[in-house]
Amino acid sequence: MTQKFYITTPIYYVNARPHIGHAYTTIACDTIARRHRLLGDDTFFLTGTDEHGQKIERAAQAAGKTPQQYADEISAEFRNLWKRMGISNDDFIRTTEDRHKKRVQVLFRQIRDNGYIYKGTYTGQYCVSDELYVDGAQPGDPCPTCGRVTETVHEDNYFFRLSAFQDKLLGLYANPDFIRPETRRNEVISFVRSGLRDLSISRSTFSWGIPVPDDPKHVIYVWLDALANYITAIGYGSSHAGAQEAFKKYWPADVHMIGKEIVRFHCVYWPAFLMAAGLELPKAIVAHGWLLFEENKMSKSRGNIVRTETILDVLGADALRYFLLREVVFGQDGSFSFDALVQRYNSDLANGLGNLASRTLAMINRYFKGEVPNPSHIKAKKPTDDAIASAARKTIQEFGDLFDQFQFSRALESAWGLVAAVDKYIVDNEPWALGEKLGESQDEESRSRLATVLYTSAEALRIATALAHPVMPDATAKIWVQMGLGDIRKVALQDLAWGQLSAGTKLGDVSPVFPRADKSAIERMQQMENQERSAAVEEEKTPAVQPATPADATPPAVTDDGKISIDDFAKVEMRVGVIKVAERVPKSDKLLRLEIDIGAEVRQVVAGIAEAYAPEPLIGRKVVIVANLAPRKLRGLESNGMIVAASLEGGRPVLAGFLEDVPVGARLK
Ligand code: MSP
Repeated sequence: MTQKFYITTPIYYVNARPHIGHAYTTIACDTIARRHRLLGDDTFFLTGTDEHGQKIERAAQAAGKTPQQYADEISAEFRNLWKRMGISNDDFIRTTEDRHKKRVQVLFRQIRDNGYIYKGTYTGQYCVSDELYVDGAQPGDPCPTCGRVTETVHEDNYFFRLSAFQDKLLGLYANPDFIRPETRRNEVISFVRSGLRDLSISRSTFSWGIPVPDDPKHVIYVWLDALANYITAIGYGSSHAGAQEAFKKYWPADVHMIGKEIVRFHCVYWPAFLMAAGLELPKAIVAHGWLLFEENKMSKSRGNIVRTETILDVLGADALRYFLLREVVFGQDGSFSFDALVQRYNSDLANGLGNLASRTLAMINRYFKGEVPNPSHIKAKKPTDDAIASAARKTIQEFGDLFDQFQFSRALESAWGLVAAVDKYIVDNEPWALGEKLGESQDEESRSRLATVLYTSAEALRIATALAHPVMPDATAKIWVQMGLGDIRKVALQDLAWGQLSAGTKLGDVSPVFPRADKSAIERMQQMENQERSAAVEEEKTPAVQPATPADATPPAVTDDGKISIDDFAKVEMRVGVIKVAERVPKSDKLLRLEIDIGAEVRQVVAGIAEAYAPEPLIGRKVVIVANLAPRKLRGLESNGMIVAASLEGGRPVLAGFLEDVPVGARLK
């Protein structure tokens, strides 16, 4: 009987362009969805974009766009990237779509009708970047999740009786499969055990969100809005019969895949909302770790965000997919670097699977006129052949077990163990030597032996390729066609077994699937990233009227008289910010540590102004900062930007400011 399988990614915020961190989650889900389709499950794979809330409203403002315009543009970037990567999602939900908005209102009403919503006033701290109420924090405290300064919120809100669900939630976590991995489960359990406060689920001081039914002064809290995507996309709250049927069929989700930083929203709030609405709960919430770039967290201010497109251009999507799933232990943080990517690509794909395919298929072409030989000659059998067959059987089992436990790197290690075993088998059995004998004497024994060796190699190749298909859909589809097996998407993984390769199968045209990458691939990717970063800066800064420059001439950075071009000036990104936190740096007379809100984010800046300014009066003051300076460390603190100040005699700084009121985040040009 066919089973249904419903898997989701988080829906991505549209305040930033997609990068490989987002691709990582999407690739993991895509791979799982593809495996389930091959297993014959009726699979539904959902992704989308999270477009409401204060963070998006502010980011749009800083970009000089309406929130809708801004969301449209970035959401399209996500969709286009997934398309280009061949991501097999069945739907893409945007929270600004009508279908979603209406259904979220149905959910809100349902929870309210069930008695879990009441009106009150919230006074407390809020982190806009995480869209998180920070219980127990004081004004000026940093957000415990991201470290940015929290803002004080005082407004009339609707509250959700989260406290009523403490015991039910703890009961739910008793099932060890509900939250994975174990470390995350333990964190959630201790968070819930420490007591749950009711949660504000509406905001009334801005408007970019879904109106609360019957009280449109309020918009629904963006996390309730966003989490609901998992049910609205498949038809919850719709009056259409088709949509209702889809909801009945696919809900509850089998897997919500998320990054580790949003565990609380998914494991505490989401099940509580669902219970309050009387809906079934998802079966599993699986959290992966962070993808770091060369050991550092990727962030805009560090300027170390890696775009997926760069890797697609140079090595292709399959290389990235394989690398991420093979290299990173799922659930833990993992490091990305171009060096490691190219090294893995060469060792496992070019020299591993790719080489096994081309040498095996080339020999079948040469010695058996492109037809898979018949291995059944008993006399030609040796124990090493059986060893490969049983290794393959074991791999099928092991790969499936590990994969289903989300241990992708170990599953791939197991499949590549088979590839390595076959490589060794080929070297030990020297089919080329048998082939030469064949040419000389038409020796029947050598022919049988050669047939067995090549059949065994090809059959193991077929099995490794089928297993790897969900991970590398394109490359494995090519190998499948080269083996004369047709459309790999028709493989029934649950029946995959040794010996299904039919003798006599006619090979297709054989060509290398993973051409070796040399050092220049690394340089090219690095160059592309650097160019993209400076282009992004340029694009924002290009003045409306550009001075004409001959197309082929690069203007010198500094002219003879020491003047710079407008393009050079445009490289400096200056923005208006407001100081949120100011404090002395311990053991330093000169330095202040500042946290400055520049609209899209809050920056830590360490400034040498302590001799001229006391910290407290600076809080709330608007300043100008150079926002695209490379970060540097001062007294162990990372400074991400520089405050602009006049330097008077003796070096005394006077902060630059404006006579008129200027919005936070505005650019200086
Ligand atoms: N909009 C919320 C999620 C709402 S779900 C109802 C959100 N969006 S996000 O765009 O900030 O990030 C979503 C996910 O992107 C993370 O949970 C994670 O899966 C992925 N990643 C973004 N950056 C990442 C890394 N650097 N590394 C790994 N994954 C990360 O949170």
